[in-house]
Amino acid sequence: MNITRRKFVKLAGTAGLLFSFGKVQAASNEKILIAYYSRTGEEYGLGNITKGNTAIVAEIIAQKTGGDLFEIKPVTPYPDSYEECKKIASREKATKARPPFVGSVDISGYDTIFIGYPIWYGDAPQIVYTFLEGSDFSGKKIVPFCTHGGSGLSSTDQTISLTCPNAKILQGFEIRGATAQNNFAQTETRVVEHLKKLGLI
Ligand SMILES: Cc1cc2nc3c(=O)[nH]c(=O)nc-3n(C[C@H](O)[C@H](O)[C@H](O)COP(=O)(O)O)c2cc1C
Repeated sequence: MNITRRKFVKLAGTAGLLFSFGKVQAASNEKILIAYYSRTGEEYGLGNITKGNTAIVAEIIAQKTGGDLFEIKPVTPYPDSYEECKKIASREKATKARPPFVGSVDISGYDTIFIGYPIWYGDAPQIVYTFLEGSDFSGKKIVPFCTHGGSGLSSTDQTISLTCPNAKILQGFEIRGATAQNNFAQTETRVVEHLKKLGLI
């Protein structure tokens, strides 16, 4: 086919438009689920909190992406006492317990699933693994996100990847629990930056 340079430029422009239109559509058509575990009660350095740190981040993600929220609620709630909770959490970690959660969610219709949790002893709480092992994440995109007291993601993105080997793990998000709890503006800005980086908004 013999096309002139002018025609080529026009064609390339149209293709570019279609391509970028397609990209925008893909982002907005993405079906998103935000599943998270978060605890209220006495938290180290924060006193008694009535909304969990991770819950705050989860709600911002849902609000910005239009995704659905699913709270991973333990059948037996963890104690409000920080010391008591630590005892149970460390026992569950040592025994690789799989505590049950309330209700269920069908993940089959979602493309991208955010998984949120606090860092407990350098890992996600065991109940998060109950959730991950309970569904088929093949072909799904997973975005891990956590709040913590200084540990960052603490390799939980890798642990999640081992638990869900057929999922694609996207770059995780971490923020200090104290920031999520006490500085909403900063938390929102950081979440938005991350969602933009992932092309989800
Ligand atoms: C049992 C337990 C263990 C924790 N272990 C860690 C840890 O290893 N590293 C860390 O940075 N923070 C640790 N933290 C602090 C929490 O990760 C942090 O306060 C988090 O923001 C709590 O989130 P939530 O309110 O959503 O439950 C621990 C907290 C608890 C209750």
